[in-house]
Amino acid sequence: MEPLADLLKRDLDYVTAGLRDELATMAGSRLLITGGAGFLGYYMVRGVLHWNDRAPASDRIHVTVFDNYVRGIPAWLEALRGRDDLTLTRFDVRQPLPDPMPEFEYIVHAAGIASPIYYRLHPLETMDANIDGLRNLLEYARARVEKKRDFRGFIFYSSSEIYGDPAPEEIPTREDYRGNVSCTGPRACYDESKRYGETLCVVFARHYGVPVKMVRPFNNYGPGLKISDRRVIPDFARDVMNGRDIVMLSDGKPKRTFCYVADAVVGYYKALVRGGMGEAYNVGVDRPEISMNELAEKVVATARDLFGYAGRVVMQAPKESDYLIDNPNRRCPDLTKSRTQLGYDPTILVDEGLRRSLVWYHYHREAEDA
Ligand SMILES: NC(=O)c1ccc[n+]([C@@H]2O[C@H](COP(=O)([O-])OP(=O)(O)OC[C@H]3O[C@@H](n4cnc5c(N)ncnc54)[C@H](O)[C@@H]3O)[C@@H](O)[C@H]2O)c1
Repeated sequence: MEPLADLLKRDLDYVTAGLRDELATMAGSRLLITGGAGFLGYYMVRGVLHWNDRAPASDRIHVTVFDNYVRGIPAWLEALRGRDDLTLTRFDVRQPLPDPMPEFEYIVHAAGIASPIYYRLHPLETMDANIDGLRNLLEYARARVEKKRDFRGFIFYSSSEIYGDPAPEEIPTREDYRGNVSCTGPRACYDESKRYGETLCVVFARHYGVPVKMVRPFNNYGPGLKISDRRVIPDFARDVMNGRDIVMLSDGKPKRTFCYVADAVVGYYKALVRGGMGEAYNVGVDRPEISMNELAEKVVATARDLFGYAGRVVMQAPKESDYLIDNPNRRCPDLTKSRTQLGYDPTILVDEGLRRSLVWYHYHREAEDA
């Protein structure tokens, strides 16, 4: 099997190659990534450090991570501690910003609770990170813009969940679709705080000239997504790693497109550097759109090839009664805007992405199978 170091190098080379112009534009700047210890942080942080390792010292981008480390400091981040182009700060974004606050030219706001199981358990914490945390960071950016300090870009991680459960004619879904979302259902703490967060962003862009853009991830997966995260691909991977049958908690019919994280991270940095002020961008893949049943069968086939896995897919009712309420039937992005305005062009489709993910889980199963 491919050694882990080779897999990571291939992905990080892909990220930095896809971002040649954007990272060159960011050269010498200071970047804050909130929530940088999480799944998307895994390649958002490492991608920049990988580029730094090949750049002249004066071009290096300094990365600061603010994270409350609710689930501890991950081993990969701990291993990077001590680098002079990385600052790790334990900070909860629901609190007022540190005083004094360091200077940043770029901000990526990714801190928050992203897994449906966890955000339903912690709805207020979910809303506060998306709203209060965002507001404080936007005020900071606004002050820099007003004082004519160098401030170049800000992205807010919104979500494809803001579209809710679109009508069939709205699939694939464009950024101007207004959504079909419940404001009181069990997912509302997440969906509605992302929607209000986007409203905050456009107000700061239009009224105060803050160069903030919103990204709407569509089912990202891959290295960095903890096997214990309770999202669908890690759940299936956990069953595989334990040699059990794959447990399907729905009827297997909902359809999704799955975006490998190396592609998504390219999209996020492109939005940060090139995105229009106050504009939202879908970041995902638009093909193939597959059912959960097809996904599970692909995981079985890939695991059989890689590890000689002998399990199969079995149906089970979810233990949590809210698990499937307001779960969209289909989700697939229209990427026209991201392709034309950002030059975003994902290429790693689900068969290859699943293979890389299962290899990654193979190397991480013991550490993280809590
Ligand atoms: N991964 C996806 O497919 C996806 C889809 C839609 C939206 N998003 C959004 O992207 C962002 C990042 O998602 P992710 O998948 O990396 O999630 P994640 O849960 O893996 O990482 C989030 C990080 O934020 C930190 N965090 C949580 N609350 C915090 C707080 N109050 N203060 C400081 N740090 C805090 C956590 O410790 C964690 O390290 C989130 O806003 C999420 O809603 C992700």
